[in-house]
Amino acid sequence: MKTKTILTLSAMVTMTATCTVVSAASIQAGKKKAEVCVGCHGEKGKGANPIFPKLAGQNPKYLTRQLEYFKNQVRNIPAMNAVASSLSDEDIADLGAYFSAHSPEPEEGQAPPEGMKIYLSGMADKKVPACSACHGPQGQGNAPAGFPLLKGQYPAYTVKALTDFASGERGEEKSPMRTIAQRMTEDEMKAVAAYIGSLK
Ligand code: HEC
Ligand code: HEC
Repeated sequence: MKTKTILTLSAMVTMTATCTVVSAASIQAGKKKAEVCVGCHGEKGKGANPIFPKLAGQNPKYLTRQLEYFKNQVRNIPAMNAVASSLSDEDIADLGAYFSAHSPEPEEGQAPPEGMKIYLSGMADKKVPACSACHGPQGQGNAPAGFPLLKGQYPAYTVKALTDFASGERGEEKSPMRTIAQRMTEDEMKAVAAYIGSLK
């Protein structure tokens, strides 16, 4: 069943692989608009504090969707709901173009081998699919599909994201992440988050 879902998703991805056009003008406009984001997300979205996710290198489709989620309060984070409420569609597109144009930097430290195993192979006994199937073997994400880049992310943020998916606090009900996260223990989340943070 899970394999079928993944196959269907890959087919969808292939069919809709029309890339979002990111123009230089949009990146330039986004740079100016991103000045208000730097305090929390760091210079070029490379991170400033582990409680705020890194945005550098994230694909425009995912960034756009999340900013719309914050604007429409599908995702409830007061600081981000306030920031997103005044953004126009054009602002959102420019910000997505800007942050996607930079590269993330990995976190220091050793990743536990369990984390790598979960990431690359999943946990068949618990019906947890390999993260790499959707997020890519290097954590680079899948830009045409809008599956997020994960590599280099702060482990604390990744654990929070997984916890919020599991509790239903985050995202849409049909998000594949909800059931995946519900099948994971906190230790498994921590292990995979450390591995994701170490990916270059
Ligand atoms: C006052 C601090 C603050 C400011 C300013 C801020 N953010 Fe955020 N942002 C957050 C927090 C906190 C989260 C984490 C949400 C969570 O825990 O799920 C977040 C999450 C995000 C995410 C989701 C990332 C992901 O990987 O899912 C995006 C996209 C984002 N912010 C974009 C922006 C943009 C663009 C701006 C500027 C226009 C901005 N933020 C300004 C605090 C801030
Ligand atoms: C079937 C495809 C699929 C698989 C398999 C999958 N993911 Fe995801 N993941 C997604 C999608 C789609 C999203 C975006 C959800 C949204 O828009 O709310 C996502 C979002 C995430 C996020 C949030 C990123 C951010 O910046 O906030 C994290 C963390 C994550 N996944 C981790 C994992 C881990 C760890 C695994 C393996 C145990 C995994 N995913 C397996 C599709 C998948």
